[in-house]
Formats: sequence, structure tokens, C-alpha cells
Amino acid sequence: MPLVALLPGDGIGPEVIAEARRVLDALGLDIAFEEAPVGGAAYHAAGHPLPPATLDLAKRADAILFGAVGDPRCDGLERALRPEQAILGLRKELTLFANLRPAKLFPGLEDASALRAEVAGAIDLLIVRELNGDVYFGEKGMRTTPAGLRQGYDVMSYDEAEVRRIAVAGFEAARRRRGKLCSVDKANVLETSQLWRDVVIETANDYADVALTHMYVDNAAMQLVRHPGQFDVIVTGNLFGDILSDQASMCVGSIGLLPSASLDANGKGLYEPIHGSAPDIAGQGKANPCATILSAAMMLRHSLGLPDAADRVEAAVARAIAAGAHTADLGGGLATRAMGDAVLEHLA
Ligand code: NAD
Ligand code: IPM
Ligand code: MN
Repeated sequence: MPLVALLPGDGIGPEVIAEARRVLDALGLDIAFEEAPVGGAAYHAAGHPLPPATLDLAKRADAILFGAVGDPRCDGLERALRPEQAILGLRKELTLFANLRPAKLFPGLEDASALRAEVAGAIDLLIVRELNGDVYFGEKGMRTTPAGLRQGYDVMSYDEAEVRRIAVAGFEAARRRRGKLCSVDKANVLETSQLWRDVVIETANDYADVALTHMYVDNAAMQLVRHPGQFDVIVTGNLFGDILSDQASMCVGSIGLLPSASLDANGKGLYEPIHGSAPDIAGQGKANPCATILSAAMMLRHSLGLPDAADRVEAAVARAIAAGAHTADLGGGLATRAMGDAVLEHLA
């Protein structure tokens, strides 16, 4: 029986994980669950955002279903103890380098999108975000300049092996979809991006069937709202992918809709909504659980070898939304639990 590590985390994390758990239970699959604290919750309980027992569970498990981390009460802690270090640590420790963030407009949400309905209606894209490198994991610190000024610094770098493995993930994803890959970088300014572009072009030699294009990240941000239908797969670095995926979420209606899979080279994965702990609405039962329920579906497909169950969950979410089940972020009145109920009703 596969083991799933449940890491609910902070803020709305436990609220949305509860709904994903109910949906998984309703499928009647043989899955064992083990839960552990992570993020601010783990810091308050055990003094560390990623306690050894939680990391051990994540390593033992076949897949990880993750809520969100982040707690304003922890923002003043030294960086190593902040909740966000838990998700960064899991991604690094488990070598989860390929982050898949799909965005597609659900029928019925044309008016929830920040874009005009005819622009939003064409969105069906996948952001493949690198997750183990970039400015996130370079040398960083605070120092004093010769002039006596405080200076913060974060080194951005990629080596060619890191770029090649995510480029391969991007090409493979494009091959499974509509055969178009857009590599997003800032090669006009950054050496990191020049290497990125060179290595992506080299990798393209093995993928003659995929149409490769390149775009600077500032233009990509603009094109995502001008004509998002032009994109099939976007492959990009850690920082650019973080920013562009939040933007893509609002193009399809809400950040409460976008799931993600963070995969290693063997298909083991961590599954989480792309949103955070949303402290502004935590504890109010307002959070949209769909991103987390859809993350559970990605887990069924990518790590547990249960594509039919994944299809069932995704279809249930789509049918519930089409039937008018909308949480507040989508302009509706449903609470988190009621949205979970609506998905369960449509599981049939
Ligand atoms: P956020 O994604 O938590 O929230 C941004 C906005 O979107 C808020 O107004 C929030 O209410 C809304 N929102 C988010 N998820 C929603 C949902 N499911 N339903 C309805 N509305 C939703 O981003 P933030 O406010 O910048 O960050 C809050 C905390 O979360 C920070 O500590 C940040 O570091 C952390 N964070 C963690 C993760 C993660 O765990 N992977 C991701 C992003 C942010
Ligand atoms: C995300 C988040 C994280 C990131 C933070 C919480 C470290 O924004 O998963 O998108 O920047 O990757
Ligand atoms: Mn983010």
C-alpha cells in the first residue's frame, strides 16, 4: 500500500488539506496516510520548521501532499528558522527539481478571470519551473560596504547540468502536449540566463518534434495577459517561474485553483497548491480548496500510478465549478467545506 505524507502546515494549509483528504478517502483507494507538522506549526511545536521526523516521513513516503507554510509571527526569526525554509528544504533534500504548474480555464469561470472572457478562454498552459537552483539557493547574506552601508546579496547561478535536466523536463512535457516549448529567461542582461538559453538550444537537438521559442521574462509577463493562448509549455528558472505562475493563476480566475507537482528524476513528488498560507483569510473557512484537491489528483497520476482516479477527481472539480460551486475568490458564496462537498457530489 502506498504511503502518503500529509503535511498541512500553516494558515489555510490545514483547511484545504482536509478537503483534499476527504476527496481521496471517497475514492476508496488503498492509501496509507501519515501526518506531520511543518512550517510555523512545526516551529511552534518543535522549534524547527522542518523537524527531522517530518523530513524522515517525507523521505519514506511514496508521495507528499503539502498544504502551505508561512506565519507572520515568524517573519522576524533568523532565516533558517522561518516556515518557508521547510518547503525549500524539502525541495532540496528530496531533489524535487521539476515543478509542474498547469493553468487552464475551467468552463464557467470566464468572468472570474482578470482577463476578458475571449482571451482567458484560450488558456491551456503548463509552467515547468526549475526548483533546486537559481537565486533561491545561491550564497546570500548581509554585509557592510566599504562606505559603511548595509548591503544584502543573493547570488544567482545555474550550472549546465541543472539547466539540462529541467530543459529535458520541459521538452518531454511539450512532447506529451501540443509540441510547443517557450523558454523564458533574461539572457539580454544575465549570464545565468545566457547559459540557460545555450543549454536549452543544445537540448533541442534531441527534440526535433518540439517547436522551441525563447522569450525574455518581462515580455513573457506581458504576453501572459495579452495573448496567453499562444503558450503551451513554458520552461523557466526558479524565480521567474514563481512570479509567472502567480500571474497565470489570476488569468484563469484565482490563485486558489492552481495545483502543482514537484518531481524528482524518478517520479517521486511533492504536491501542493501554488498559493501560500493566506494569513488574511486563515481560520475563516473562506479558502478555495480546489488547488489542493487538484494537487491530490496530480499525485494520483504522477506518483501513485492511478490515472483513472486522477481523471475522476479533475472531472469532479470541473463539474462542480461548471454547476456554479464557487468560493469567495471566484465571486461565489461557498465556504471551504461546502466547496469540498460540491466536489464530492460530482465524484460519481
Ligand atoms: P498567498 O498565496 O498566501 O496569498 C495571496 C493572496 O491570495 C491573499 O489575499 C490570499 O487570501 C489569497 N489566496 C491564497 N490562496 C487562496 C485560496 N486557496 N483561496 C482563496 N484565496 C486565496 O501569498 P502571500 O500572502 O504573499 O504569502 C502568505 C504566506 O504564505 C507567506 O508567509 C509566504 O511566504 C507563504 N507562501 C508559502 C507558499 C508555500 O507554502 N508553498 C507559497 C506562497 C507563499
Ligand atoms: C511557492 C512559494 C515559495 C517559493 C516560497 C514560500 C518559498 O512562493 O511555492 O510558489 O518562492 O517557491
Ligand atoms: Mn510562489
